[in-house]
Amino acid sequence: MNVHDQAMRPLRAEAGRDAVVVIDQRLLPHRLQLQRLASPQAVFTAIRDMWVRGAPLIGATAAYGMALQCHVDVSDGALAETAALLRSSRPTAVNLMWALDRMARVLAPLPAEQRLQAAWDAADAIAEEDVQVNARIGQHGLVLLQAVAARKPGPVQVLTHCNAGWLATVDWGTATSPIYQAHAAGIDVHVWVDETRPRNQGASLTVWELAQAGVPHTLVADNAGGHLMQRGLVDLCLVGCDRVTARGDVCNKIGTYLKALAAHDNGVPFYVAMPTSTLDLALTDGLAQIPIEERSAREVTHLHGLAADGEVVEVCLAPQGTAAANPAFDVTPARLISGLITEHGVVPAQEAALRELMKDRV
Ligand code: MRU
Repeated sequence: MNVHDQAMRPLRAEAGRDAVVVIDQRLLPHRLQLQRLASPQAVFTAIRDMWVRGAPLIGATAAYGMALQCHVDVSDGALAETAALLRSSRPTAVNLMWALDRMARVLAPLPAEQRLQAAWDAADAIAEEDVQVNARIGQHGLVLLQAVAARKPGPVQVLTHCNAGWLATVDWGTATSPIYQAHAAGIDVHVWVDETRPRNQGASLTVWELAQAGVPHTLVADNAGGHLMQRGLVDLCLVGCDRVTARGDVCNKIGTYLKALAAHDNGVPFYVAMPTSTLDLALTDGLAQIPIEERSAREVTHLHGLAADGEVVEVCLAPQGTAAANPAFDVTPARLISGLITEHGVVPAQEAALRELMKDRV
């Protein structure tokens, strides 16, 4: 997608194949700063500390972490150690494990001298596939937006949560891909963007992205969604996901579940954009089985923002020493989900449909 009319991706490999360059998402929307990552340890830090974030982007970045490892030591032991390190960087989004498993399947059978090039090729393939997958999710999701546009006057009103945009992927985004494609097709689309406390991915990232693309949008406090739905101001909810179980339970950014409940109560369709790399067929019960990342209490008690003097500062919201809990994700049960928009089409959040979708696919 474009930033100031220049094509940009949040992750790209350097031509010399000895480093990757990422957008440091901690600094957006106030500063667009690139960071060069030249070691698996640097990749680990960038994922753990959320310089890069979003399930598909985490997976692709970790794949390059394995390629960087191959410059140092390609032995089975070293590769396993680095894979374990990267795997530990964030626990919830399964794309991370998916990408590392895929890298292991490529590298394990190869002799040492072939591993470096094969690792870069495999990481490039994961990144490029992500772009194609998200473009296809956009085409399938576009049909849903076209159907809304055909049956009512005025803008198609979409509510989204967190950032499932191009910053969270290698390009297009998942939940935003249908929106970008609808906008490009001339459909009048307007997006309600949940701020997404505590890290405010909606307020800092999704809003920034939509503004760059010229898509009309309005930022709302997380608590506003139910009210908007009661007033008939939301035609559909469209969110991303970090892990989806075999029976269609969806784990996504904390607060997603509350939006799904409000959507259900108000008869608003609730769609999840899901690349199949986010599907974890080994799990069924999302609530019981998906590990939920618990992040620092400081993300709840403090906020970052732009001060009047142009500096980005941190301010404290709560009394010093306040105990705070910070579960980063929640699980929306399959029964609340109208459909999963995958690269292969829109499918119900049901086990039989998901197993059929993945039959004969890796
Ligand atoms: O903690 P984050 O910012 O990595 O969480 C991201 C989300 O929850 C996204 O909605 C999800 O990864 C889908 S990204 C296409």
